[in-house]
Amino acid sequence: MRPGPAPRPPAVAGDALRERLRRLPKTELHLHALGALRPATTVELARRAGSPVLAAAERAAAEGYAFDDLPHFVEFFIGLFGLVTTPADFERVAWEVAEDLAALGVRYAEVRWTPTSHTARGATVDGMWAGLEAARAQVERRLPLTLRWVVDFPRSLPLAVGEAACGIAVATRDRGTVAFDVAGDERAVGAEPRFAALFRRARAAGLGCLAHAGEAAGPESVAAALDLWGVDRIGHGTRAIEDAALVARLARGTVPLEVCPTSNEALGVVPSVAAHPVVELLRRGVPVVVSSDDPTLFGTDVVREHERLHLEAGVPLDTLGRLAAASFLQASLPAAERHERFADVAREAVAWSEAACA
Ligand code: HPA
Ligand code: ZN
Repeated sequence: MRPGPAPRPPAVAGDALRERLRRLPKTELHLHALGALRPATTVELARRAGSPVLAAAERAAAEGYAFDDLPHFVEFFIGLFGLVTTPADFERVAWEVAEDLAALGVRYAEVRWTPTSHTARGATVDGMWAGLEAARAQVERRLPLTLRWVVDFPRSLPLAVGEAACGIAVATRDRGTVAFDVAGDERAVGAEPRFAALFRRARAAGLGCLAHAGEAAGPESVAAALDLWGVDRIGHGTRAIEDAALVARLARGTVPLEVCPTSNEALGVVPSVAAHPVVELLRRGVPVVVSSDDPTLFGTDVVREHERLHLEAGVPLDTLGRLAAASFLQASLPAAERHERFADVAREAVAWSEAACA
């Protein structure tokens, strides 16, 4: 992993920087709903379920969460699925996540769910989407945020689970679902050719195709997500940096890496945010969108991700503003709808960026 350049001394820091970054109109294109549960909600739901997550959630209130690596993290994450089961749970969680995102200046969010992991624990797809769509209707009325859903599936489970998830994504495309994603333990199951049929089906249904790749596994996993699955965005893609030809290919193309610096640091994908390859990826022209992945579990939020990239990795503020403006073009929405919804807000982000240069 190459070290980035030494950070320049920041012109603004502390609360003033955070407030400034909060006002930057942003997207959140890589966020797992269950990784963004409010701490108090996690405790309440874990207590109700009598879940072993309760002890970890209570400890986390004082110390934060700590994970050894991606497999350890995924194992913990599985324990969260059983906390959210009824339509009212889904509505509550979706609303709280949306409210928190709006407070961070997020104007468009694609929030990821793993429906097969909820249905395996007693939820129904109809009940789940009744709750999600009730939340989305409220968001439309009350928040300056456009909210959509991503359906993901855990790559280590049998193919039938991926097929079921794909069916759910297609069936809910009129109920807010805009994309299909593969998540879970990439070290156990990397570039699986059998997933290609799922992505073909998702694409034919008009859904965006996303994949976690190049997080725990190397650049070959990113190349395979492009070649085998034809994805539109890469979740993380951090380890693409290990292959210069792949970096050049990404720079020539339009597929962005959804960079989540604190997540990568927390799971040992990078030694520190200061040493995150995002600086070098940007220098070489790779499209990047900044995201927070699982903010509660990694003790971050999307404003903090921008703040850390600036303060620790030395990414200039105007660059962050331009990335935010461009990220609206990466929404999994038809081009005409993207333009209609986001032309003004992207201009606002460009103006923010210009002001940061002045
Ligand atoms: N990688 C893989 N699976 C996940 C992640 C991640 O970053 N977050 C939640 N599930
Ligand atoms: Zn993720």
